[in-house]
Amino acid sequence: MASFQDELGTLLRGVDAIAALGAALKLHALGADPHPDVPLRTALQHLVPSGVEEVDPKTAGFLSKLIIARLAEAQDFLAKPDRGPGWSQVVSPLMHAMGEASRMVPHHMHALAATRPGLAAALRGRMLDVGTGIGALALEALSLEPTLQVVGLDIWPEALAEAEARRRESPYGDRLELRNEDVTALTETSAYTLAWLPTPFMPRPVAEAALDRLVVSLQPNGWLVTVTFAIPADPAGAAIGRLRLLRAGGYPWTAEELSGALQARGLQEVEAIPLGPTIMFIGRR
Ligand SMILES: C[S@@+](CC[C@H](N)C(=O)[O-])C[C@H]1O[C@@H](n2cnc3c(N)ncnc32)[C@H](O)[C@@H]1O
Repeated sequence: MASFQDELGTLLRGVDAIAALGAALKLHALGADPHPDVPLRTALQHLVPSGVEEVDPKTAGFLSKLIIARLAEAQDFLAKPDRGPGWSQVVSPLMHAMGEASRMVPHHMHALAATRPGLAAALRGRMLDVGTGIGALALEALSLEPTLQVVGLDIWPEALAEAEARRRESPYGDRLELRNEDVTALTETSAYTLAWLPTPFMPRPVAEAALDRLVVSLQPNGWLVTVTFAIPADPAGAAIGRLRLLRAGGYPWTAEELSGALQARGLQEVEAIPLGPTIMFIGRR
């Protein structure tokens, strides 16, 4: 049986490998080379024999941000090992890293919209960005669609202050409205063509209350888009996946549970779409 030290050594190799992969993806996105004295390509030949060059540079940039966010999450755990569940006490590098990683979300929505004309129309209308954080996802969505308007809600003043600074500096900022508002207190009706809800950062009762409010806030034929982290099937992966979700303040939804929660609120055309480490859910009012 492997000793504790042996197991630790194996796990640490995974940390080194993911950092090397993130570095290679970042360099590929920038069109830059590793330092000639750092044998990154040789190391990667063992990790990803197909090479990161197969990934298009834009996607490589998003994937490197995803890795940066996961490592920032790990650092947050080590910096505050005894903190309880929730998001508003996270260290500032994680707030930024998770915001930057979430820029990928509007691109996933647009990819799905390519074969769903109703969703494409919704992405040209008025979007509610629940948990807008530093506003990175909202500004990315605005950059993709010139007619889109976004309302961003959050309850975290530190993140909203950063979002406001970014809004002012962005060429798309005049189409973004930021509000310090809890999604469960939303009272608008038929106001949005699309609503985005990131469930991994809210307990189940909050997510359920949010879904109640969001369905009413959508225009007829408006789309709800939500997400959960995919929980691996093996016992160790499942335990770590649940740990991550619960520490972030979320609930480990199964795909069936979250699809069911959308259907129970009368949404049509509900789909669960696996996207690597996450599962995205869509449904039409
Ligand atoms: C990971 S962050 C989202 C990152 C964001 N997309 C960005 O671009 O920065 C999740 C956000 O959900 C917010 N949140 C959690 N519960 C909320 C609630 N009940 N109402 C509104 N926002 C909430 C948190 O404060 C946090 O900023």
